[in-house]
Amino acid sequence: MRCGLLLLLLAAPALAQDPNAARSLAAGCASCHGIDGRSRGPAMAPLAGMKAEVMLASLADYRSGRKAGTVMPQIVKGYTEAQLRLVAAYFAALPAAPARP
Ligand code: HEC
Repeated sequence: MRCGLLLLLLAAPALAQDPNAARSLAAGCASCHGIDGRSRGPAMAPLAGMKAEVMLASLADYRSGRKAGTVMPQIVKGYTEAQLRLVAAYFAALPAAPARP
Protein backbone atom coordinates (compact mmCIF):
# COMPACT_ATOMS: atom_id res chain seq x y z
CA MET A 1 0.00 0.00 0.00
CA ARG A 2 2.75 2.39 0.97
CA CYS A 3 4.77 1.23 -2.02
CA GLY A 4 1.75 1.65 -4.30
CA LEU A 5 1.31 5.22 -3.17
CA LEU A 6 4.97 5.94 -3.82
CA LEU A 7 4.72 4.48 -7.31
CA LEU A 8 1.68 6.59 -8.00
CA LEU A 9 3.43 9.75 -6.86
CA LEU A 10 6.42 8.92 -9.04
CA ALA A 11 4.17 8.22 -12.01
CA ALA A 12 2.22 11.46 -11.56
CA PRO A 13 4.25 13.63 -13.98
CA ALA A 14 3.79 11.06 -16.75
CA LEU A 15 0.08 10.89 -16.06
CA ALA A 16 -0.27 14.61 -16.79
CA GLN A 17 0.16 13.86 -20.50
CA ASP A 18 -2.68 11.35 -20.36
CA PRO A 19 -6.21 12.38 -21.41
CA ASN A 20 -7.51 10.74 -18.24
CA ALA A 21 -4.89 12.51 -16.17
CA ALA A 22 -7.30 14.15 -13.73
CA ARG A 23 -9.02 10.88 -12.92
CA SER A 24 -5.68 9.09 -12.57
CA LEU A 25 -4.38 11.78 -10.24
CA ALA A 26 -7.57 11.67 -8.20
CA ALA A 27 -7.13 7.90 -7.80
CA GLY A 28 -4.06 8.73 -5.73
CA CYS A 29 -6.30 10.41 -3.15
CA ALA A 30 -8.85 7.57 -3.04
CA SER A 31 -7.08 5.35 -0.53
CA CYS A 32 -7.64 7.97 2.14
CA HIS A 33 -10.41 10.27 0.89
CA GLY A 34 -12.60 7.54 -0.61
CA ILE A 35 -13.35 6.49 -4.18
CA ASP A 36 -14.11 9.67 -6.14
CA GLY A 37 -13.57 11.70 -2.98
CA ARG A 38 -16.65 10.29 -1.27
CA SER A 39 -15.22 9.32 2.10
CA ARG A 40 -17.77 8.93 4.87
CA GLY A 41 -15.54 8.52 7.89
CA PRO A 42 -15.58 11.26 10.53
CA ALA A 43 -11.82 11.84 10.29
CA MET A 44 -11.41 12.21 6.55
CA ALA A 45 -12.67 15.12 4.53
CA PRO A 46 -14.72 14.12 1.48
CA LEU A 47 -13.20 15.91 -1.52
CA ALA A 48 -16.10 15.48 -3.94
CA GLY A 49 -17.87 18.76 -4.58
CA MET A 50 -15.25 20.84 -2.75
CA LYS A 51 -14.79 24.17 -4.52
CA ALA A 52 -11.54 24.13 -6.50
CA GLU A 53 -10.29 27.39 -5.01
CA VAL A 54 -10.96 26.14 -1.47
CA MET A 55 -9.06 22.91 -2.16
CA LEU A 56 -6.17 24.71 -3.86
CA ALA A 57 -5.86 27.18 -0.98
CA SER A 58 -5.84 24.31 1.51
CA LEU A 59 -3.22 22.39 -0.51
CA ALA A 60 -1.07 25.52 -0.86
CA ASP A 61 -1.20 25.95 2.93
CA TYR A 62 0.00 22.37 3.44
CA ARG A 63 2.80 22.97 0.94
CA SER A 64 3.96 26.19 2.60
CA GLY A 65 3.64 24.77 6.11
CA ARG A 66 1.04 27.37 7.11
CA LYS A 67 -1.37 24.53 7.74
CA ALA A 68 -0.22 21.57 9.84
CA GLY A 69 -1.02 18.04 8.78
CA THR A 70 0.09 14.47 9.33
CA VAL A 71 0.42 13.35 5.71
CA MET A 72 -0.86 16.09 3.40
CA PRO A 73 2.27 18.30 3.67
CA GLN A 74 4.32 15.41 2.22
CA ILE A 75 1.71 14.30 -0.29
CA VAL A 76 1.17 17.75 -1.77
CA LYS A 77 4.89 18.07 -2.51
CA GLY A 78 4.61 15.09 -4.87
CA TYR A 79 2.42 17.06 -7.27
CA THR A 80 3.06 20.04 -9.53
CA GLU A 81 0.77 23.11 -9.32
CA ALA A 82 -0.71 22.14 -12.69
CA GLN A 83 -1.52 18.65 -11.42
CA LEU A 84 -3.18 20.03 -8.29
CA ARG A 85 -5.28 22.41 -10.40
CA LEU A 86 -6.33 19.45 -12.54
CA VAL A 87 -7.23 17.29 -9.57
CA ALA A 88 -9.04 20.16 -7.80
CA ALA A 89 -11.16 20.82 -10.90
CA TYR A 90 -11.91 17.11 -11.13
CA PHE A 91 -13.18 16.86 -7.54
CA ALA A 92 -15.09 20.16 -7.78
CA ALA A 93 -17.06 18.78 -10.73
CA LEU A 94 -18.16 15.67 -8.82
CA PRO A 95 -21.42 15.67 -6.86
CA ALA A 96 -20.79 16.22 -3.16
CA ALA A 97 -20.88 13.15 -0.95
CA PRO A 98 -24.17 12.80 0.93
CA ALA A 99 -24.21 14.25 4.43
CA ARG A 100 -23.10 11.94 7.17
CA PRO A 101 -25.86 10.30 9.13
C1 HEC B 1 -2.30 8.73 2.96
C2 HEC B 1 -3.65 9.30 3.07
C3 HEC B 1 -3.99 10.51 2.20
C4 HEC B 1 -3.87 10.63 0.84
C5 HEC B 1 -3.31 9.61 -0.16
C6 HEC B 1 -4.41 11.94 0.51
N1 HEC B 1 -4.84 12.58 1.64
FE1 HEC B 1 -5.64 14.44 1.75
N2 HEC B 1 -5.77 14.29 3.76
C7 HEC B 1 -5.33 13.22 4.49
C8 HEC B 1 -5.37 13.55 5.92
C9 HEC B 1 -4.98 12.62 7.06
C10 HEC B 1 -5.86 14.87 5.99
C11 HEC B 1 -5.99 15.75 7.25
C12 HEC B 1 -4.73 16.61 7.34
C13 HEC B 1 -3.47 15.81 7.67
O1 HEC B 1 -3.41 15.22 8.74
O2 HEC B 1 -2.51 15.78 6.83
C14 HEC B 1 -6.12 15.30 4.63
C15 HEC B 1 -6.64 16.54 4.28
C16 HEC B 1 -6.85 16.97 3.00
C17 HEC B 1 -7.45 18.23 2.62
C18 HEC B 1 -8.01 19.28 3.57
C19 HEC B 1 -9.48 19.01 3.76
C20 HEC B 1 -10.14 20.03 4.67
O3 HEC B 1 -11.38 20.05 4.73
O4 HEC B 1 -9.43 20.80 5.32
C21 HEC B 1 -7.48 18.29 1.27
C22 HEC B 1 -8.03 19.41 0.40
C23 HEC B 1 -6.88 17.07 0.79
N3 HEC B 1 -6.52 16.29 1.86
C24 HEC B 1 -6.72 16.76 -0.54
C25 HEC B 1 -6.08 15.61 -1.01
C26 HEC B 1 -5.83 15.34 -2.41
C27 HEC B 1 -6.24 16.26 -3.56
C28 HEC B 1 -5.19 14.15 -2.46
C29 HEC B 1 -4.66 13.43 -3.70
C30 HEC B 1 -3.79 14.22 -4.55
C31 HEC B 1 -5.05 13.66 -1.11
N4 HEC B 1 -5.59 14.57 -0.26
C32 HEC B 1 -4.44 12.46 -0.76
C33 HEC B 1 -4.90 12.00 4.01
C34 HEC B 1 -4.60 11.73 2.69
